[in-house]
Amino acid sequence: KQTIEMIMHQRRGRRLVLFPLPLQGHINPMLQLANILHTHGFSITIIHTNFNSPNPSNHPHFTFHFIPENLSESEASTDDLLALVALLNTRCEEPFHDCLAKLCSSDSEEEPVACLISDAILPFTQAVAEKLKLPRIVLRTGGASSFLVFAAFPLLRERGYLPIQDSKLEEPVVEIPPLKVKDLPVINTSDPQTLHQVVDGMVDGAKASSGLIWNTFEDLEQPSLDTLGQKFPIPIFPMGPFHKIFTASSSSSSGLLKQEDQSCISWLDKLATTAPKSVIYVSFGSIAAISEAEFLEIAWGLANSNQPFLWVVRPGLLTRRGGSDWLELLPSGFLEKLGGRGHIVKWAPQQEVLAHPSVGAFWTHNGWNSTLESICEGVPMICMPCFTDQRVNARYVSDVWRVGLQLENGIERGEIEKTIRRLMVEREGKEIRERILCLKEKAILSLKEGGSSYESINSLVTHILLLES
Ligand code: UDX
Repeated sequence: KQTIEMIMHQRRGRRLVLFPLPLQGHINPMLQLANILHTHGFSITIIHTNFNSPNPSNHPHFTFHFIPENLSESEASTDDLLALVALLNTRCEEPFHDCLAKLCSSDSEEEPVACLISDAILPFTQAVAEKLKLPRIVLRTGGASSFLVFAAFPLLRERGYLPIQDSKLEEPVVEIPPLKVKDLPVINTSDPQTLHQVVDGMVDGAKASSGLIWNTFEDLEQPSLDTLGQKFPIPIFPMGPFHKIFTASSSSSSGLLKQEDQSCISWLDKLATTAPKSVIYVSFGSIAAISEAEFLEIAWGLANSNQPFLWVVRPGLLTRRGGSDWLELLPSGFLEKLGGRGHIVKWAPQQEVLAHPSVGAFWTHNGWNSTLESICEGVPMICMPCFTDQRVNARYVSDVWRVGLQLENGIERGEIEKTIRRLMVEREGKEIRERILCLKEKAILSLKEGGSSYESINSLVTHILLLES
């Protein structure tokens, strides 16, 4: 024991190199993790693509190295998320290797590097780390339950669930209850082979790594974490929710371009005493896109619901439309006719909004960060998943944790109105609210001394200090 403590003491202050997938929902948790590990005494180096790069001046305590991702302008601005991820995994390989090799070389003036921590969706980094004899730990920014479904892709292909057939959408996936075929975490693509390559690569890369970090907590995903522990012969560290350990508003913490519109907070303030918990906050994250027809159904559903709403319409939310014609699709005088009951912004300070006393529900696409943020503020959800893990997250929200309602029958104004009423007015909604407040408490407890995430962070620190590098 003495020796282990001595080794740990000698290795304190070692450098960690972190490499995020350069998308908002992935950069934020990686930077939050960097901050957590920094407070535990590590020096932090971030390798980042030039593409979507955060502003280093927001993180003066980290060292940044930017690498060229070698994407053409059209490749970098594509709507095809899957193609982008596949390209990043090939084009970053050489510059990433060169950058990491320099950081690890004996003539580097910085502290010795203890390990690489990279996003699960960048599995090429596993081979690079192995080549440089550096241990790699994986950060999976999504939930453990959806990861298990990704890990089951070979089985799902073998049993004929994948590729998905439209006639079978409502059928159960009997091997993974309570999922239905429509909940499987795929993305619309003309290239299913690339999808399977990316997913299988992520899972195999995680299996070959020296450990897996999760932005989740035990009380939320215990059965899935247990299964993972059996299937993955490596240490796992469920140590979230990160944003409650290192609090900083999301886009400002990453320094990405999106400007948070603070007007929504003063708009919410006005309702705090007269109509607490009445506002539906509507946001579909940083990537998801909807059609014009869906946009209009959402607008009319909100208008007809009679509830106040705060809606984030991100430029780019509508498929095949640029940012210039932002709200032009709305019927003329739409907001005016509602007499101040609705407020629309391009980007909101989401964590602040969810914590606001006026907010009573979150209509979300169930990106993992949004899902966790909603749970942590005890805000019940209306689920409208768009692709990949969002579908699994939504099923867990509605059917496992039972802290939200899912729009099961498409996006249609009558259905929307009905769902909002069930959540905001009826008894069912009250029970949902009680359940999510209970989960919120568990999330907070997990981070306190002796809580599962608190202990997991300490185990991770010890694990890193004892890695052979
Ligand atoms: C992406 C993937 O689509 C999703 O499947 C995966 O789980 C995570 O990465 P994204 O669209 O980025 O999701 O959503 P989410 O994970 O919810 O992250 C969005 C982040 O942006 C949240 O932290 C949220 O607080 C923030 N946000 C969103 C704002 O700060 N303001 C907004 O107006 C909207």
